[in-house]
Amino acid sequence: MKFIPILFSLLLIPATISAQDAVKRDEQQMHRLHNDPKSYIGALEDPKRDAYQKPQEVMMAFGLKPGEVIADIGAGSGYFTFRLAHHIGDRGKVYAVDVSPDMILHINRRIRELKATNVVSILADPDDPLLPDASVNRFFFSDSWHHIDNQTKYLSLMKKMLKAGGEIVMIDFHKKDLPVGPPMQMKIAREDLIKQMETNGFRLTKEHTFLPYQYFLVFMPK
Ligand SMILES: C[S@@+](CC[C@H](N)C(=O)[O-])C[C@H]1O[C@@H](n2cnc3c(N)ncnc32)[C@H](O)[C@@H]1O
Repeated sequence: MKFIPILFSLLLIPATISAQDAVKRDEQQMHRLHNDPKSYIGALEDPKRDAYQKPQEVMMAFGLKPGEVIADIGAGSGYFTFRLAHHIGDRGKVYAVDVSPDMILHINRRIRELKATNVVSILADPDDPLLPDASVNRFFFSDSWHHIDNQTKYLSLMKKMLKAGGEIVMIDFHKKDLPVGPPMQMKIAREDLIKQMETNGFRLTKEHTFLPYQYFLVFMPK
């Protein structure tokens, strides 16, 4: 009865790969997930994520204005990209920026499926989002700042790419033991991030505290 082991392994799949965020992963499991685009997309889009990621509340907290230009850096599957696009209307634009060709391919498919005329995907350099100067109202990082290696360079580029009055919005996991999210060594503590932003010429202008596992910070150039 060959189908029993097959069935058994299929039953095991959701426990190991579903919801990057409904399970805790060690570094090895995280790397494996990053190398398996289908599972990674499945994890990012897992409906169980919504319970703590609260995407609707996040959109409301943004206070999005029609016509805004937003750069969603490390857009992944587009979990936030297409929600942002919905709120900024046809005159606005969301740049979906990622270094993974698989994620960009997935986003391009979604752009076509959803007929999203206000989303532009960008396959970027790891240390440069490749956006024009003075072109963006808000940069948005959701669980992606800790992926950027050369953060100092990235901050100085973003300062040039922001329009006057622009913001950087960052959501990421608290550096403490949590039932969800990446391993401890991949996390950046809220206090360290604020210090880093201060050192690089940004000030904290707003903080939202309704997310159970993540900080949600807004910065502007000093
Ligand atoms: C944990 S996912 C977050 C996806 C999305 N922001 C979300 O909240 O669902 C991190 C994403 O960052 C991307 N990434 C990693 N390094 C990057 C870099 N240097 N520049 C842009 N994107 C990067 C990865 O390919 C991945 O899609």
